[in-house]
Amino acid sequence: MNATGVRIAGVGHFVPEQVITNADLEKLFDTSDEWITSRTGMKERHAARPDESTSDIAFAAAKRALDNAHIDPADLSCIIVATVTPDYAFPATACVVGSKLGVPGIAAFDMEIGCSGFIYGLTVAAGMVRSGIFRRVLLIGAEELTKLVNYGDRSTAVLFGDGAGAVVLEATERDSYLGSELGADGSEPENLYLPLSGTAQPPPTGEDIALKRNTIKMNGKEVFRFAVTKMIESTHVALERAGIRPDDVTWLIPHQANRRIIDAAAKQLDMSDDRVIVNIDRYGNTSAASIPIALSEAVAAGKLKDGDVILFVGFGAGLSWGAVAWRWSANGHAAA
Ligand code: ACO
Repeated sequence: MNATGVRIAGVGHFVPEQVITNADLEKLFDTSDEWITSRTGMKERHAARPDESTSDIAFAAAKRALDNAHIDPADLSCIIVATVTPDYAFPATACVVGSKLGVPGIAAFDMEIGCSGFIYGLTVAAGMVRSGIFRRVLLIGAEELTKLVNYGDRSTAVLFGDGAGAVVLEATERDSYLGSELGADGSEPENLYLPLSGTAQPPPTGEDIALKRNTIKMNGKEVFRFAVTKMIESTHVALERAGIRPDDVTWLIPHQANRRIIDAAAKQLDMSDDRVIVNIDRYGNTSAASIPIALSEAVAAGKLKDGDVILFVGFGAGLSWGAVAWRWSANGHAAA
């Protein structure tokens, strides 16, 4: 077999059991179900237990994706975890996941590029498989952003949820990868960042922690404007590189950050609602996990047909952005 192509052989996702509803948030600060629903499209989100780490939920999603692909963990060549909420600053969460899967020794690394993590990961992993460097890559988007949120700040606390989504990529003759576009601009990191979390500032003091200065900070309006613009631009570039037009796209699977961002982008791309996969109402923004969770749910619901063209598009901290055009190969897929 001349295996110069790549396909997604299996998908899976996992979300922690605990659910935080808009009604729960109404008890914490001055907000309302009406405000959150109309401004974001979110109704509820999941939150990990204090003792439930990112590698735990990544492992659970990975197991499901491997089962869906009928692939033994020992047959993997590389594990990538896209996350901004790793178990530790080091070692990489992917190393821990490899150990939990019972396959220490397999190449493993993390990608830290915010909510664009799955888009970046898919482009890099597909490139590695297509070039013959690795035959089977497990790519997981896994996040526990509820652990970095200040539940006293209503402008960010309503947005984020925890979860993990995974895909198994494997070499094949028929290529699913059609084209992609990635970009980043780090000139204003504070538009969306976690202060006091790295080497740019002194470690947080007791007062910093008491005042929650080490939690997510975001310029929501700026990120909103940037998100819509970049989703459109990167989609057009990715489609051009793929040699296809927006009309050829069967499914838009966007990063789930805000229903209004998704609707604005879909409208400008002339994509009707029935071609856009949205689950933001149940999960909120799960960062690098949102796209693979949405994909996994779409597969489980039997929505994707062999040959369908999927456009994955996302944006996030960096600021960063990207889009990947992908032809779905149904061979072997059952419910995730
Ligand atoms: N409940 C009630 N009122 C609120 C809440 C809340 N939860 N949050 C903010 N408000 C208030 C504000 O205080 C403001 O009140 P004021 O007019 O009296 O000052 C009013 O609502 C309007 O606030 P805006 O910030 O203008 O609200 P906006 O419509 O812009 O929505 C939001 C805010 C939802 C954050 C939006 O800007 C957004 O979604 N931005 C993009 C965020 C995003 O995508 N982030 C993730 C990036 S991906 C990653 O890498 C993690």
